[in-house]
Amino acid sequence: MKILRTIAEVRAAVRAARAEGETVGLVPTMGAFHEGHLSLMRQARAESDLVVVSLFVNPTQFGANEDLSTYPRDEARDAALAEVEGVDILFAPAAAEIYPDGFATNIHVAGITEVLDGAIRGAHHFDGVATVVTKLFGIVTPDVAYFGQKDAQQVLVVRRVVRDLDLDVRIEACPIVREPDGLAMSSRNVYLDADARAQASALNRSIDAAEAVLASGQNDGESIRAAADRVLADASIDVEYLELRDAETLQPVDAVERDALLLVAARVGAARLIDNHLLRGVAS
Ligand code: PAF
Repeated sequence: MKILRTIAEVRAAVRAARAEGETVGLVPTMGAFHEGHLSLMRQARAESDLVVVSLFVNPTQFGANEDLSTYPRDEARDAALAEVEGVDILFAPAAAEIYPDGFATNIHVAGITEVLDGAIRGAHHFDGVATVVTKLFGIVTPDVAYFGQKDAQQVLVVRRVVRDLDLDVRIEACPIVREPDGLAMSSRNVYLDADARAQASALNRSIDAAEAVLASGQNDGESIRAAADRVLADASIDVEYLELRDAETLQPVDAVERDALLLVAARVGAARLIDNHLLRGVAS
């Protein structure tokens, strides 16, 4: 596995692979790898000839009061894990390589970025994601790019950028990888102390409770949300949002008649956690 720092080096490596007729898969990451990231790398390895993983803690997607300075960073550990997964290139640029002096472009997706995490974290968050991902697509020119479904809103934002800007890349959303007690894997789980870690499993239990209501034949949003809400309240979770939204448009829905996402964000101990689940549409 090569660790590359510059855009020119990545371009040269991709050009050489393309000259051999190879396909290119990209896994964009901010490092601090866990099984969720490794599952994306495995899928990329299975489907692409050249696998590029980017490791860049993107400053523009963090707000002033967020965890940019404390975000877990351990490049040597990440590189070792990526190597085991058969990654060909780890692209780990410095911030100045991605945002040189005078950088002045911002990709803003309207609508779906204004709710949920966009509303809580601010517009800069998805602007930062959309801009850096568009740059990574321009640098790596992947055939396929792999994202975790845990960041469901991010996946929708990236799909919208690709569609609206006619980018020639297929977006693969890969299933959420969970701890044995159901907690969705996240680089931010390292912020949880033992008490918060135990409390955090309520997020997944709230999703299970919602799914159980739907499975019992009730598809109305109020009953589904209430079941999830009860679990979170019983665990004294400080909920930021718990919402049922259309799986494509993120518009609020009153009933699960088409596929819908149940999305939850909460403060648990020192961590901000998000989770979500696709509820399959049932006509009432
Ligand atoms: O999901 C992430 O880790 C980041 O938002 C991404 C897609 C790598 C962009 O910085």
